[in-house]
Amino acid sequence: MKKFIFIGLFVTFLLSCALNFSGNAPTPPLSPLAELGHHLFFDTKLSANNTKSCSSCHAPQFAFTDGYKKSLGLFADVQKHNSPTIINAKFYKTFNWATPETHTFEKQMERPLFGTEILEMGCNKSEDKIPNLLKSEKLYQDLFSKAFPIEKNPFQWENIMQAIAEYERNLTSFNSPYDKDRAGDKNALSESAKRGERLFFSHTLQCMTCHRPPHFTLAAIEDDSSIYANIGLYNVDNQGSYPKRDEGLYEVTHKITDKGKFKIPTLRNLAFTAPYMHDGSVATLKEVLDIYENGGRKINFGDYKGNGKENPYKEERIHGFALSKNEKNDLLAFLLSLSDSSILKNPIFENPFAASAKKAAK
Ligand code: HEC
Ligand code: HEC
Repeated sequence: MKKFIFIGLFVTFLLSCALNFSGNAPTPPLSPLAELGHHLFFDTKLSANNTKSCSSCHAPQFAFTDGYKKSLGLFADVQKHNSPTIINAKFYKTFNWATPETHTFEKQMERPLFGTEILEMGCNKSEDKIPNLLKSEKLYQDLFSKAFPIEKNPFQWENIMQAIAEYERNLTSFNSPYDKDRAGDKNALSESAKRGERLFFSHTLQCMTCHRPPHFTLAAIEDDSSIYANIGLYNVDNQGSYPKRDEGLYEVTHKITDKGKFKIPTLRNLAFTAPYMHDGSVATLKEVLDIYENGGRKINFGDYKGNGKENPYKEERIHGFALSKNEKNDLLAFLLSLSDSSILKNPIFENPFAASAKKAAK
């Protein structure tokens, strides 16, 4: 009997050691398909001049954004928009800032890979040049045959896109202080962040009506026009317009009331994703809060002069409010508690080429 108690205690001891050492649950390895996608996502061979990969504009250190106001294409042409994070994007029903017909990762990828409006990666879908280049490499021969074991010639664009999409589905993050608090860790949030949480969910501020948990965007819940909103960033010449050729949903629907409507972005990982908004025109979170407090953005000079607060197409819910300096700091602390720093250490999120170079150097 004593022996059993002893074994029982020993097993408990081993288990608790394992839990202590691993901290969070260890990351399970990627499937062969996702592992292939992991490499392709970071490989500049997927571009016309070997300079751009998906990760050029969606880099792990910026939570899969790029730190620019607007992304740069293959020849440094300025893309229309700020690069959004793709962490947890697998939960969205629609992708991009204002393209309501884009519902799958594969469809979304067509633009950066093959789009011609602005060359982003400049690949040509009807040519085999890039698939053949991959086929000539030992690394990809292994990865493709593991991912597509029964296909004779798996080096096809469809398979490349399928693999990248599978990798994207693995980019999830639910380990922020906010998530830990939800899971019962009473010390995960500071008192300030807890006060900020109450403000965020308050009737006056209404933040949660658009940035709804757990994804902090309606785009993971709805698939209709409610996922787009005009928050009064512009009111060019006080005519209700946004900067030309970038007026949001209106560019697609030509409905005047859709002017300035962009997809509600997630608020997760904001600590890594500055600058903010569809055009990267807001540098800091403090400025974001000033805009909401004011009920829109006032631009006093330049091409985009106008008072966003009076934009006739702005959401009624963005009506402004008054917060003390301390309350603003609390709200900021809550927003930052939605950032998950464990993504910066997760091998699935790392550049596999940099990781293997590091290993080789050891
Ligand atoms: C030149 C920079 C650039 C490259 C290269 C690039 N992207 Fe993007 N990506 C962007 C920008 C900018 C957007 C926002 C597009 C828009 O709405 O106008 C975006 C949007 C996305 C979205 C939608 C996210 C959301 O929140 O809706 C996904 C997913 C995505 N990209 C994946 C990829 C993949 C996969 C690749 C490689 C095949 C790639 N991107 C290459 C800049 C880039
Ligand atoms: C009516 C819906 C709505 C409400 C209410 C709302 N937001 Fe937003 N939020 C948006 C939209 C849409 C954008 C993107 C606007 C754009 O780029 O033109 C955005 C952008 C943001 C961003 C920038 C995120 C990024 O990655 O670029 C932050 C931060 C933010 N909101 C915080 C808040 C806070 C805090 C509140 C409450 C005070 C709030 N929002 C209330 C719809 C809303």
